This record gives sequence, C-alpha cells and structure tokens, in this order.
Amino acid sequence: MSPSPNFWNKVADKYAASPVADETAYQRKLEVTRGYFRPDMTVFEFGCGTGSTAIVHAPHVAHIHAIDIAPRMVDIAQGKVDAAGIKNITFEVAAIDTFDAPEGSYDAVLGMSILHLLDDSDAAIAKVYRMLKPGGVFASSTVCLGETLWWLWPVLKLGQLIGKVPLVKFLKVKRLEASLIRAGFRIDHQWQQARGKAVFIVAVKDG
Ligand SMILES: C[S@@+](CC[C@H](N)C(=O)[O-])C[C@H]1O[C@@H](n2cnc3c(N)ncnc32)[C@H](O)[C@@H]1O
Repeated sequence: MSPSPNFWNKVADKYAASPVADETAYQRKLEVTRGYFRPDMTVFEFGCGTGSTAIVHAPHVAHIHAIDIAPRMVDIAQGKVDAAGIKNITFEVAAIDTFDAPEGSYDAVLGMSILHLLDDSDAAIAKVYRMLKPGGVFASSTVCLGETLWWLWPVLKLGQLIGKVPLVKFLKVKRLEASLIRAGFRIDHQWQQARGKAVFIVAVKDG
C-alpha cells in the first residue's frame, strides 16, 4: 500500500510555523553534517518537510534534490527558496518508498526525522546505500520510540485509525544500527542527547 500524504498535508502550515523543538541539538546535527560536505557535492534529502534543513545546507554544496510525500510541505519549501533566491535546491513531491535514482547518484543523503515514519525503513536504508556514490554519507536523525515509549503503541495505533496520527514505527537504536550495517554502511558518527531523544547517525558507504 502506498503511504498517504494526508496527515502531513493537513499539518504542513502548522509545522512550518512551529519553532524547532530543540534548537541546540538541531544546530549540532547541522554542524556535524556540514563537516562532511564539500562544495562540489550533490545531496539528496527525503522527507524534507518545509525545506529548512536543505536551505541551511544549500550554500555548502553544489545541489540538493529534496523530496517529500506531502505536496503542501513542498509548496511551502518552494515558497521559502523562491523568496530567498536560492537556486541550488530542487524540490519534488515523492515518497521515498517509490522514489528511485540510478546507483551512485549522490554524494550525501539526508533523512531527518523520517526513518521512523516509514513502513519499511530497512528498504529505504538499502535504497539510500545504492543511490550513494562510494565514499558517500548518509546523515539521519531518528526517534526510536521502541526504547522508552513502547507503552504508547495502542494510543498511537488508535490515533492512526482515526487519521490523527501518522504511521509511526517503534524503532530501537540497536535495530537501526543493525539495519545500516546490514545495508553495507559503516557508522562514522553517532550522537543521542539523552535516552528517548532522536539518535543522530552519520553512516558512510566506504569506497
Ligand atoms: C517529522 S517531518 C520531518 C521534516 C524535516 N525532515 C524536518 O526534520 O523538519 C516528516 C516529513 O516526512 C514526510 N514523509 C512522511 N512519509 C514520507 C515518505 N514515505 N516519503 C517521503 N516523505 C515522507 C512528511 O510529509 C513530513 O514532511
């Protein structure tokens, strides 16, 4: 079954207007990611939301191709880059589940706050590995609800049934690490501010 953009379309305007939940952690992740960039790099981002992360990174790379399943998120992101006169980001409405690109297309891939929202994060990770060039990097930040909030499962399931909550998987950190390694990645950087917070991982496809 194709994932639905409905929930994310509905919340897009509110999402765009909300401040980042933890600015210090967000800035740290941006800074670490930037440390892997070179000006000639081609970057792919999936689940880009309203484009904030792509906009911050755009001056440090050659081009960013950013996709999101929700047309309203992409509209807002496009409006932001148009207003700022940014020319090196291309947005596209697409689901990572069905998106494809030739092997070795990108130097870096970003997946911020998205892997836990996918029906099959293992497949997405394997796809990212294939789309990366040898030596390429995959930076992700993922909430692993399976560690601390597993008891929320029935509540979220009910919320999903009535359309108030998006698809959310109860990932665990070890399972996420194993998925990356199984795909072929080497984990180069890992940071989690505290138990229960998103785990930030930069994984490398060694050349
Ligand atoms: C929690 S938001 C994160 C947005 C952005 N990456 C950020 O860090 O602010 C998740 C985003 O992923 C998008 N999304 C959800 N499922 C997706 C899928 N299967 N493929 C692509 N985008 C998806 C949603 O529309 C939403 O914009």
